[in-house]
Amino acid sequence: MSIEAHGGTLINRELTGNEREQALNDAKSLKALTISTWAISDLELIGIGGFSPLQGFMGKEDYESVVNNTRLADGTIWSIPITLSVTKQQAENYQIGEEIALKGGDGVIYGTLLLKEAFTYDKELEAKNVYGTTDAEHAGVKKLYERGDVYLAGPITLLNRPDHSDFAEFYMDPRETRQMFADLGWNTVVGFQTRNPVHRAHEYIQKSALEAVDGLLLNPLVGETKSDDISAEVRMESYQVILKNYYPQDRTRLVIYPAAMRYAGPKEAILHAIVRKNYGCTHFIVGRDHAGVGDYYGTYEAQDYISQFEEELGIQIFKFEHAFFCTKCENMGTAKTCPHDKDNHVHLSGTKVREMLRNGEKPPKQFSRPEVAEVLIKGMQEV
Ligand code: ADX
Repeated sequence: MSIEAHGGTLINRELTGNEREQALNDAKSLKALTISTWAISDLELIGIGGFSPLQGFMGKEDYESVVNNTRLADGTIWSIPITLSVTKQQAENYQIGEEIALKGGDGVIYGTLLLKEAFTYDKELEAKNVYGTTDAEHAGVKKLYERGDVYLAGPITLLNRPDHSDFAEFYMDPRETRQMFADLGWNTVVGFQTRNPVHRAHEYIQKSALEAVDGLLLNPLVGETKSDDISAEVRMESYQVILKNYYPQDRTRLVIYPAAMRYAGPKEAILHAIVRKNYGCTHFIVGRDHAGVGDYYGTYEAQDYISQFEEELGIQIFKFEHAFFCTKCENMGTAKTCPHDKDNHVHLSGTKVREMLRNGEKPPKQFSRPEVAEVLIKGMQEV
Protein backbone atom coordinates (compact mmCIF):
# COMPACT_ATOMS: atom_id res chain seq x y z
CA MET A 1 0.00 0.00 0.00
CA SER A 2 1.43 3.32 -0.97
CA ILE A 3 1.91 6.31 1.31
CA GLU A 4 -0.95 8.79 1.52
CA ALA A 5 -0.50 12.10 -0.31
CA HIS A 6 -0.14 15.21 1.85
CA GLY A 7 -3.57 16.23 3.05
CA GLY A 8 -4.99 12.81 2.11
CA THR A 9 -5.63 13.05 -1.64
CA LEU A 10 -3.25 13.23 -4.57
CA ILE A 11 -4.50 16.23 -6.49
CA ASN A 12 -5.01 16.16 -10.25
CA ARG A 13 -5.79 19.53 -11.82
CA GLU A 14 -4.78 18.57 -15.33
CA LEU A 15 -7.11 18.13 -18.27
CA THR A 16 -6.36 15.61 -21.00
CA GLY A 17 -7.90 14.46 -24.29
CA ASN A 18 -10.98 16.20 -25.63
CA GLU A 19 -11.57 18.15 -22.43
CA ARG A 20 -8.12 19.65 -22.76
CA GLU A 21 -8.62 20.48 -26.46
CA GLN A 22 -11.88 22.19 -25.63
CA ALA A 23 -10.39 24.13 -22.70
CA LEU A 24 -7.39 25.20 -24.77
CA ASN A 25 -9.71 26.45 -27.47
CA ASP A 26 -11.83 28.35 -24.94
CA ALA A 27 -8.70 29.77 -23.30
CA LYS A 28 -7.82 31.59 -26.52
CA SER A 29 -10.70 33.97 -25.93
CA LEU A 30 -9.85 34.59 -22.26
CA LYS A 31 -7.77 37.50 -21.03
CA ALA A 32 -4.19 36.31 -20.87
CA LEU A 33 -1.45 36.80 -18.33
CA THR A 34 2.16 36.06 -19.19
CA ILE A 35 3.79 34.29 -16.28
CA SER A 36 7.42 33.50 -15.42
CA THR A 37 9.16 30.17 -15.82
CA TRP A 38 9.08 29.91 -12.02
CA ALA A 39 5.29 30.36 -11.97
CA ILE A 40 4.92 27.80 -14.76
CA SER A 41 6.83 25.26 -12.68
CA ASP A 42 4.52 25.97 -9.72
CA LEU A 43 1.50 25.61 -12.00
CA GLU A 44 2.79 22.27 -13.20
CA LEU A 45 3.49 20.99 -9.68
CA ILE A 46 0.02 21.98 -8.52
CA GLY A 47 -1.55 20.42 -11.62
CA ILE A 48 0.21 17.07 -11.36
CA GLY A 49 -0.26 16.78 -7.59
CA GLY A 50 3.35 17.38 -6.51
CA PHE A 51 2.04 20.22 -4.33
CA SER A 52 -1.00 18.30 -2.99
CA PRO A 53 -3.24 19.37 -1.28
CA LEU A 54 -2.96 22.70 -3.14
CA GLN A 55 -5.50 23.11 -5.92
CA GLY A 56 -4.29 26.49 -7.06
CA PHE A 57 -2.30 29.57 -6.14
CA MET A 58 -2.86 30.42 -2.48
CA GLY A 59 -5.57 32.79 -1.30
CA LYS A 60 -5.04 35.31 1.48
CA GLU A 61 -6.18 33.10 4.32
CA ASP A 62 -3.88 30.22 3.39
CA TYR A 63 -1.06 32.63 2.55
CA GLU A 64 -1.16 34.40 5.89
CA SER A 65 -1.52 31.16 7.76
CA VAL A 66 1.52 29.68 5.96
CA VAL A 67 3.62 32.79 6.57
CA ASN A 68 2.65 33.08 10.23
CA ASN A 69 2.02 29.49 11.32
CA THR A 70 3.67 27.18 8.74
CA ARG A 71 0.23 25.70 8.11
CA LEU A 72 -2.58 26.08 5.61
CA ALA A 73 -5.73 27.66 7.02
CA ASP A 74 -7.16 24.17 7.67
CA GLY A 75 -4.15 23.28 9.83
CA THR A 76 -2.26 21.11 7.30
CA ILE A 77 1.50 21.71 7.51
CA TRP A 78 2.77 23.89 4.66
CA SER A 79 5.93 25.95 4.86
CA ILE A 80 6.36 28.11 1.74
CA PRO A 81 3.69 30.23 0.04
CA ILE A 82 2.86 29.12 -3.49
CA THR A 83 1.62 32.31 -5.05
CA LEU A 84 1.20 34.07 -8.38
CA SER A 85 2.49 37.62 -8.33
CA VAL A 86 1.55 40.47 -10.66
CA THR A 87 2.04 44.22 -10.57
CA LYS A 88 -0.77 46.45 -9.28
CA GLN A 89 -1.28 47.66 -12.81
CA GLN A 90 -1.62 44.14 -14.19
CA ALA A 91 -4.04 43.19 -11.41
CA GLU A 92 -6.41 45.93 -12.52
CA ASN A 93 -7.03 44.08 -15.80
CA TYR A 94 -8.85 41.23 -14.12
CA GLN A 95 -12.16 40.83 -12.30
CA ILE A 96 -12.84 38.44 -9.46
CA GLY A 97 -14.67 35.40 -10.82
CA GLU A 98 -12.98 35.66 -14.19
CA GLU A 99 -10.97 32.85 -15.78
CA ILE A 100 -7.50 33.90 -16.93
CA ALA A 101 -5.30 32.16 -19.49
CA LEU A 102 -1.78 31.65 -18.09
CA LYS A 103 0.74 31.98 -20.88
CA GLY A 104 4.48 31.49 -21.00
CA GLY A 105 6.89 33.91 -22.63
CA ASP A 106 6.82 31.44 -25.53
CA GLY A 107 3.10 32.10 -26.14
CA VAL A 108 2.02 28.63 -24.98
CA ILE A 109 -1.08 28.55 -22.78
CA TYR A 110 0.03 26.40 -19.86
CA GLY A 111 -3.22 26.59 -17.96
CA THR A 112 -5.95 28.76 -16.53
CA LEU A 113 -6.64 30.42 -13.21
CA LEU A 114 -10.13 30.98 -11.88
CA LEU A 115 -9.56 34.28 -10.11
CA LYS A 116 -11.03 34.17 -6.61
CA GLU A 117 -8.93 36.83 -4.91
CA ALA A 118 -6.32 39.50 -5.54
CA PHE A 119 -4.47 40.76 -2.48
CA THR A 120 -1.45 42.79 -1.50
CA TYR A 121 1.08 41.35 0.91
CA ASP A 122 3.96 42.28 3.16
CA LYS A 123 7.19 41.26 1.43
CA GLU A 124 9.37 41.87 4.46
CA LEU A 125 7.17 39.74 6.65
CA GLU A 126 7.23 36.94 4.08
CA ALA A 127 11.02 37.28 3.84
CA LYS A 128 11.50 37.24 7.60
CA ASN A 129 9.12 34.38 8.35
CA VAL A 130 9.87 32.15 5.38
CA TYR A 131 13.54 32.86 4.66
CA GLY A 132 14.53 33.91 8.16
CA THR A 133 16.07 37.13 6.85
CA THR A 134 15.08 40.37 5.15
CA ASP A 135 18.49 40.67 3.50
CA ALA A 136 18.06 41.39 -0.23
CA GLU A 137 21.37 39.61 -0.88
CA HIS A 138 19.75 36.28 0.00
CA ALA A 139 19.04 34.49 -3.32
CA GLY A 140 15.42 33.67 -2.40
CA VAL A 141 14.63 37.00 -0.76
CA LYS A 142 16.04 38.82 -3.79
CA LYS A 143 13.53 36.99 -5.99
CA LEU A 144 10.73 37.80 -3.57
CA TYR A 145 11.58 41.52 -3.59
CA GLU A 146 11.53 41.52 -7.39
CA ARG A 147 7.97 40.19 -7.51
CA GLY A 148 4.86 42.24 -8.26
CA ASP A 149 2.96 43.66 -5.29
CA VAL A 150 -0.27 41.69 -5.77
CA TYR A 151 -0.97 37.98 -5.52
CA LEU A 152 -3.68 36.52 -7.76
CA ALA A 153 -5.28 33.47 -6.23
CA GLY A 154 -7.64 30.67 -7.13
CA PRO A 155 -7.83 27.12 -8.47
CA ILE A 156 -5.86 26.33 -11.59
CA THR A 157 -6.23 23.96 -14.49
CA LEU A 158 -3.11 22.60 -16.16
CA LEU A 159 -3.44 22.38 -19.94
CA ASN A 160 0.15 22.01 -21.08
CA ARG A 161 3.08 20.77 -19.07
CA PRO A 162 6.32 22.67 -19.67
CA ASP A 163 8.74 21.08 -22.09
CA HIS A 164 10.95 18.55 -20.34
CA SER A 165 12.20 16.97 -23.56
CA ASP A 166 15.84 17.47 -22.52
CA PHE A 167 15.25 15.03 -19.68
CA ALA A 168 12.21 13.17 -21.09
CA GLU A 169 13.51 9.82 -19.95
CA PHE A 170 13.76 11.08 -16.38
CA TYR A 171 10.47 12.92 -16.13
CA MET A 172 7.65 11.31 -14.17
CA ASP A 173 4.67 12.74 -12.35
CA PRO A 174 3.68 11.61 -8.84
CA ARG A 175 1.16 9.08 -10.17
CA GLU A 176 3.85 7.54 -12.32
CA THR A 177 6.50 7.36 -9.59
CA ARG A 178 3.97 5.79 -7.23
CA GLN A 179 3.15 3.18 -9.88
CA MET A 180 6.83 2.60 -10.54
CA PHE A 181 7.55 1.98 -6.85
CA ALA A 182 4.67 -0.48 -6.71
CA ASP A 183 5.90 -2.26 -9.86
CA LEU A 184 9.40 -2.48 -8.41
CA GLY A 185 7.99 -3.90 -5.19
CA TRP A 186 9.51 -1.06 -3.17
CA ASN A 187 7.53 -0.60 0.04
CA THR A 188 9.97 1.91 1.45
CA VAL A 189 11.62 4.56 -0.69
CA VAL A 190 13.99 7.31 0.35
CA GLY A 191 13.82 10.56 -1.60
CA PHE A 192 16.94 12.64 -2.11
CA GLN A 193 16.78 16.32 -3.00
CA THR A 194 19.79 17.96 -4.55
CA ARG A 195 20.77 20.98 -6.61
CA ASN A 196 24.38 19.85 -6.88
CA PRO A 197 26.33 17.05 -8.51
CA VAL A 198 26.45 13.95 -6.32
CA HIS A 199 29.70 14.04 -4.39
CA ARG A 200 31.02 11.35 -2.06
CA ALA A 201 29.26 12.87 0.96
CA HIS A 202 25.90 12.74 -0.85
CA GLU A 203 26.64 9.20 -1.97
CA TYR A 204 27.51 8.18 1.57
CA ILE A 205 24.29 9.46 3.10
CA GLN A 206 22.17 8.09 0.25
CA LYS A 207 23.72 4.66 0.61
CA SER A 208 23.49 4.75 4.39
CA ALA A 209 19.76 5.34 3.94
CA LEU A 210 19.56 2.69 1.24
CA GLU A 211 20.84 0.14 3.76
CA ALA A 212 17.55 0.62 5.59
CA VAL A 213 14.96 0.96 2.81
CA ASP A 214 14.02 -0.78 -0.46
CA GLY A 215 14.87 1.94 -2.95
CA LEU A 216 16.41 5.35 -3.56
CA LEU A 217 14.74 8.06 -5.61
CA LEU A 218 17.45 10.46 -6.70
CA ASN A 219 15.27 13.49 -7.31
CA PRO A 220 17.39 16.46 -8.37
CA LEU A 221 15.77 19.86 -8.64
CA VAL A 222 16.05 21.07 -12.24
CA GLY A 223 13.93 24.24 -12.12
CA GLU A 224 15.33 27.72 -11.66
CA THR A 225 18.49 27.95 -9.53
CA LYS A 226 20.90 30.79 -8.89
CA SER A 227 23.39 31.49 -11.63
CA ASP A 228 26.47 30.05 -9.92
CA ASP A 229 24.88 26.66 -9.30
CA ILE A 230 25.92 23.99 -11.81
CA SER A 231 23.41 23.71 -14.67
CA ALA A 232 20.79 20.98 -14.65
CA GLU A 233 22.05 19.64 -18.01
CA VAL A 234 25.55 19.03 -16.67
CA ARG A 235 24.25 17.67 -13.39
CA MET A 236 21.89 15.25 -15.09
CA GLU A 237 24.79 13.83 -17.04
CA SER A 238 26.82 13.48 -13.85
CA TYR A 239 23.96 11.67 -12.06
CA GLN A 240 23.69 9.12 -14.85
CA VAL A 241 27.41 8.46 -14.72
CA ILE A 242 27.56 7.96 -10.97
CA LEU A 243 24.45 5.77 -10.89
CA LYS A 244 25.80 3.58 -13.67
CA ASN A 245 29.18 3.10 -12.04
CA TYR A 246 28.49 3.04 -8.33
CA TYR A 247 24.85 2.26 -7.54
CA PRO A 248 22.74 -0.90 -7.64
CA GLN A 249 20.61 -0.45 -10.76
CA ASP A 250 17.61 -2.30 -9.39
CA ARG A 251 17.44 -0.22 -6.21
CA THR A 252 17.88 3.29 -7.62
CA ARG A 253 15.86 5.54 -9.90
CA LEU A 254 16.60 9.00 -11.25
CA VAL A 255 13.61 11.31 -11.70
CA ILE A 256 13.73 15.09 -12.06
CA TYR A 257 12.00 17.47 -9.66
CA PRO A 258 10.90 20.35 -11.91
CA ALA A 259 10.63 23.04 -9.22
CA ALA A 260 12.41 26.33 -8.65
CA MET A 261 14.90 26.50 -5.78
CA ARG A 262 13.95 28.89 -2.98
CA TYR A 263 17.07 28.59 -0.80
CA ALA A 264 14.79 28.83 2.22
CA GLY A 265 16.72 26.33 4.37
CA PRO A 266 14.50 24.91 7.15
CA LYS A 267 11.20 25.94 5.54
CA GLU A 268 12.24 24.52 2.20
CA ALA A 269 13.28 21.24 3.83
CA ILE A 270 9.64 20.87 4.85
CA LEU A 271 8.37 21.68 1.37
CA HIS A 272 10.88 19.24 -0.12
CA ALA A 273 9.73 16.48 2.23
CA ILE A 274 6.04 17.11 1.49
CA VAL A 275 6.59 16.99 -2.27
CA ARG A 276 8.59 13.74 -2.06
CA LYS A 277 5.79 12.25 0.03
CA ASN A 278 3.42 13.19 -2.80
CA TYR A 279 5.73 11.43 -5.26
CA GLY A 280 5.35 8.32 -3.08
CA CYS A 281 8.52 8.37 -0.97
CA THR A 282 8.22 7.04 2.58
CA HIS A 283 11.52 8.57 3.73
CA PHE A 284 13.39 11.77 2.98
CA ILE A 285 16.98 12.82 3.62
CA VAL A 286 17.85 16.07 5.35
CA GLY A 287 21.60 16.48 5.73
CA ARG A 288 23.76 19.44 6.61
CA ASP A 289 22.45 22.91 5.77
CA HIS A 290 19.62 21.54 3.63
CA ALA A 291 18.52 24.06 0.96
CA GLY A 292 20.81 26.61 2.53
CA VAL A 293 22.71 29.44 0.92
CA GLY A 294 25.61 31.51 2.27
CA ASP A 295 25.62 31.38 6.06
CA TYR A 296 22.00 32.33 6.63
CA TYR A 297 21.16 29.04 8.36
CA GLY A 298 22.87 26.94 11.00
CA THR A 299 24.30 23.61 9.86
CA TYR A 300 21.53 21.60 11.51
CA GLU A 301 18.80 24.24 11.62
CA ALA A 302 16.72 22.47 8.93
CA GLN A 303 16.97 19.18 10.84
CA ASP A 304 16.02 20.76 14.15
CA TYR A 305 13.14 22.63 12.56
CA ILE A 306 11.65 19.70 10.68
CA SER A 307 11.87 17.51 13.80
CA GLN A 308 8.97 19.31 15.46
CA PHE A 309 6.69 18.44 12.50
CA GLU A 310 7.96 14.97 11.83
CA GLU A 311 5.10 12.90 13.17
CA GLU A 312 2.47 15.02 11.50
CA LEU A 313 4.34 15.20 8.20
CA GLY A 314 3.77 11.51 7.60
CA ILE A 315 7.13 10.96 5.87
CA GLN A 316 10.10 9.78 7.88
CA ILE A 317 13.11 12.03 7.94
CA PHE A 318 16.61 10.55 7.76
CA LYS A 319 18.93 13.11 9.31
CA PHE A 320 22.63 12.96 8.61
CA GLU A 321 25.46 14.91 10.11
CA HIS A 322 28.12 16.53 8.00
CA ALA A 323 29.80 13.69 6.08
CA PHE A 324 33.42 13.61 4.92
CA PHE A 325 36.21 11.26 3.91
CA CYS A 326 38.63 10.52 6.75
CA THR A 327 42.15 9.65 5.68
CA LYS A 328 42.78 7.70 8.89
CA CYS A 329 39.58 5.66 8.67
CA GLU A 330 40.11 5.45 4.90
CA ASN A 331 36.41 5.77 4.39
CA MET A 332 33.48 8.12 4.64
CA GLY A 333 31.96 9.00 7.97
CA THR A 334 30.58 11.69 10.19
CA ALA A 335 31.43 12.87 13.70
CA LYS A 336 29.14 10.08 14.85
CA THR A 337 31.28 7.35 13.31
CA CYS A 338 34.79 8.80 12.97
CA PRO A 339 36.97 9.43 16.04
CA HIS A 340 39.73 11.39 14.27
CA ASP A 341 40.22 15.10 14.32
CA LYS A 342 39.45 17.51 11.51
CA ASP A 343 42.97 17.52 10.04
CA ASN A 344 42.30 14.03 8.74
CA HIS A 345 39.10 14.98 6.98
CA VAL A 346 39.04 15.89 3.29
CA HIS A 347 37.19 19.14 3.10
CA LEU A 348 36.70 21.35 0.06
CA SER A 349 34.44 24.37 -0.18
CA GLY A 350 31.97 24.64 -3.05
CA THR A 351 33.84 27.67 -4.37
CA LYS A 352 37.16 25.81 -4.31
CA VAL A 353 35.66 22.82 -6.15
CA ARG A 354 34.12 25.01 -8.83
CA GLU A 355 37.46 26.77 -9.31
CA MET A 356 39.27 23.43 -9.70
CA LEU A 357 36.72 22.15 -12.20
CA ARG A 358 36.87 25.35 -14.19
CA ASN A 359 40.64 24.93 -14.40
CA GLY A 360 40.19 21.40 -15.66
CA GLU A 361 41.47 19.95 -12.38
CA LYS A 362 39.84 16.91 -10.78
CA PRO A 363 39.04 17.22 -7.09
CA PRO A 364 40.52 14.36 -5.02
CA LYS A 365 38.71 11.05 -5.48
CA GLN A 366 37.88 11.10 -1.79
CA PHE A 367 35.68 14.08 -2.58
CA SER A 368 34.26 13.31 -6.00
CA ARG A 369 34.12 10.17 -8.12
CA PRO A 370 36.56 10.66 -11.05
CA GLU A 371 33.85 9.86 -13.63
CA VAL A 372 31.68 12.61 -12.13
CA ALA A 373 34.59 15.06 -12.08
CA GLU A 374 35.19 14.38 -15.77
CA VAL A 375 31.61 15.22 -16.69
CA LEU A 376 31.72 18.37 -14.58
CA ILE A 377 35.03 19.56 -16.02
CA LYS A 378 33.70 19.09 -19.55
CA GLY A 379 30.43 20.80 -18.64
CA MET A 380 32.05 23.74 -16.87
CA GLN A 381 34.43 24.36 -19.74
CA GLU A 382 31.62 24.42 -22.27
CA VAL A 383 29.93 27.28 -20.42
S1 ADX B 1 20.25 21.38 -1.42
O1 ADX B 1 20.13 22.82 -1.50
O2 ADX B 1 19.56 20.69 -2.47
O3 ADX B 1 19.88 20.90 -0.07
P1 ADX B 1 22.74 19.94 -1.81
O4 ADX B 1 22.52 19.47 -3.18
O5 ADX B 1 24.12 20.38 -1.49
O6 ADX B 1 21.82 21.20 -1.54
O7 ADX B 1 22.33 18.87 -0.74
C1 ADX B 1 21.52 17.78 -0.97
C2 ADX B 1 21.27 17.06 0.36
O8 ADX B 1 22.51 16.54 0.87
C3 ADX B 1 20.71 17.94 1.47
O9 ADX B 1 19.86 17.17 2.30
C4 ADX B 1 21.95 18.34 2.24
O10 ADX B 1 21.64 18.65 3.57
C5 ADX B 1 22.79 17.08 2.14
N1 ADX B 1 24.26 17.29 2.20
C6 ADX B 1 25.03 17.99 1.32
N2 ADX B 1 26.34 17.91 1.65
C7 ADX B 1 26.43 17.15 2.77
C8 ADX B 1 27.49 16.70 3.62
N3 ADX B 1 28.78 16.97 3.37
N4 ADX B 1 27.18 15.94 4.69
C9 ADX B 1 25.88 15.63 4.99
N5 ADX B 1 24.84 16.01 4.22
C10 ADX B 1 25.09 16.76 3.13
